Amino acid sequence: MITDKIPTDLQQTWTTVDDYINRMLVPSDAALDAAIEASAAAGLPAIAVTPSQGKLLHLLARSIGARNILEIGTLGGYSTIWMARALPAGGRIITLEFSPKHATIALANIARAGLADKVQLRQGPALDSLPRIAAENPPPFDFVFIDADKENNAGYFQWALRLTHPGSLILVDNVIRDGAVANASSRDPMVQGVRRLNKLLSKQPRVCATTIQTVGSKGYDGFTLALVLS
Ligand code: SAH
Ligand code: DHB
Ligand code: MG
Repeated sequence: MITDKIPTDLQQTWTTVDDYINRMLVPSDAALDAAIEASAAAGLPAIAVTPSQGKLLHLLARSIGARNILEIGTLGGYSTIWMARALPAGGRIITLEFSPKHATIALANIARAGLADKVQLRQGPALDSLPRIAAENPPPFDFVFIDADKENNAGYFQWALRLTHPGSLILVDNVIRDGAVANASSRDPMVQGVRRLNKLLSKQPRVCATTIQTVGSKGYDGFTLALVLS
């Protein structure tokens, strides 16, 4: 997220450091590069998680031994590929995407990465797909990544709570928005969506949560991480 609020020299430093981190710890990879390139060629917005953030999703899922993952907001499947690669044999990820165009591109990217058998994409508004998933009585999800329309963050979090178990992790992207989240009178509906989620988290005894601000090639933003307790 690059806005005129961030001085150009600071943003350049964050991008340079991200490039350095990637060279050292997150080497490029044909399937991930192809997913980004095909998404850009199809005109999808360049708002996927960064490589180091994708690897963080992978490491979190892997460190808890996640077998069942739920993603809300697929875009071109870049984050999906990172998380699917953390799954053991027989594990699966269900990813929800509103846009038929994004879904088509994502499925091609996921297939190219050799992960079609691990990923189930459900196209449609996530708030329609989630009750359908619940009605199927799936095994509880171990890891949930919420990264769709921020206006519905609180609703997505409530569904995540219904579909997880004690010990599950729920990660929410884009919760800082250049610092706008601290502005109670912000008229940005995305910011108000994040603020509603924070209000819910502050009163929800079933989770233990924190938020970490981040900088990098995508600007100044952050993640909220919640551990399901009960
Ligand atoms: N997780 C992806 C980025 C997701 S961008 C990555 O990091 O690679 C957000 C996505 O959410 C977009 O593709 C957008 O079409 C989708 N989206 C927006 N509103 C939605 C809704 N109501 N239900 C499901 N997906 C939605
Ligand atoms: C934006 C960034 C994201 O990571 C996302 O999931 C949605 C929107 C943005 O910068 O607008
Ligand atoms: Mg995001």
